[in-house]
Amino acid sequence: MTVKPLKIAVVPGDGIGIEVMPYGVRCLETVSKVFKIPIQFESFDFASCVFYQKHGDMLPPDWKETLMRFDAVYFGAVGMPDLVPDDITLWGSLLKFRREFDQYINLRPCRLMPGVPCPLAGRKAGDIDFWIVRENTEGEYSSIGGKIFEGTDRETVVQETIMTRTGVDRVLRYAFDLARSRPRKRLTSATKSNGISITMPYWDSRVNEMAKKYPDVNVDKYHIDILTAHFVQRPDIFDVVVGSNLFGDILSDLGPACTGTIGIAPSANINPDGQFPSLFEPVHGSAPDIAGKGIANPIGMIWAGQMMLHHFGYTEAADALLRAIENVLARSEVSIVTPDMGGQGSTKTLGEAVEREVMALS
Ligand code: NAI
Ligand code: MG
Repeated sequence: MTVKPLKIAVVPGDGIGIEVMPYGVRCLETVSKVFKIPIQFESFDFASCVFYQKHGDMLPPDWKETLMRFDAVYFGAVGMPDLVPDDITLWGSLLKFRREFDQYINLRPCRLMPGVPCPLAGRKAGDIDFWIVRENTEGEYSSIGGKIFEGTDRETVVQETIMTRTGVDRVLRYAFDLARSRPRKRLTSATKSNGISITMPYWDSRVNEMAKKYPDVNVDKYHIDILTAHFVQRPDIFDVVVGSNLFGDILSDLGPACTGTIGIAPSANINPDGQFPSLFEPVHGSAPDIAGKGIANPIGMIWAGQMMLHHFGYTEAADALLRAIENVLARSEVSIVTPDMGGQGSTKTLGEAVEREVMALS
């Protein structure tokens, strides 16, 4: 039987996206060789400011058909605010992908890795290990609303939160499935039903309804205010945390920030049904302040690739790549790791170290 190859569209974008992407691709190529995973890459120069300056748009007119031919988009970072305003770059590329490809899950690991100093006192590797599942298409980030009586003292603005049963249930189902797949089988829901009196009680009621279908999953909920405090004070209690678009947005920055440098954090924008490609990217942006210096940390990019393997069911390869990242971070050799981790290494030394470690492990 021939296995259908995994088709990956590589979109490096701008700034350090271009610098870290080659190491992401190399690590994926290496691990896929070792585990005999058929994987094909094709690179694209759109979704970048250079493309914009040439063509007057961030994307070619046929971008959707082009990317639809792929299983996933492996994305670097976009943005060069000195050249092109951020609203044009982000809305013209990444946010279009997320919306038009109905990537309704944003998934981020929150995992304290060995060798990475934790900003929270007294925590060591292994103490913090949970997932944040954010609803990525509706909720508080709707464009329904408007302004009236502008410029007068009756000036009024309204913006609505949209929660559909379809939208809420599908993100909950994903989060419950994820919780079920983990040893602790625990799901925490972010709410604010004591203050937001219509949509949040609705969210809670859908959580209760979904919980009936997952009797093996332990469910609890916290109001978002105390939940953020627990992220800092008791991060060890969490396993899978699910939230609406706004709450998930906040938690998915706070969580990874509690576990160290932004340079290592990955993120996935997933269309679980596979109707459209999913997108895997580092959390960080294009970092114009260090772009061109060759010192960007490539781990976020590589780890995003690891999430991609995991998403497509290549668990063994994904586990090996994660172990390789962990081993290299655990050693944190000064000559290897990048300056954001206190080292004197470069994108190249750190990227190649992970690649070597993958080979050593197999
Ligand atoms: P940023 O994440 O690019 O940088 C924030 C700080 O973290 C900078 O000091 C940077 O040097 C450092 N940093 C980020 N990634 C690093 C890495 N891999 N290794 C070492 N240090 C790293 O965020 P910022 O500065 O707010 O945005 C810069 C540009 O990136 C803007 O145009 C923004 O719109 C865009 N952006 C794009 C994102 C995306 O494509 N998903 C996400 C966030 C920002
Ligand atoms: Mg955010």
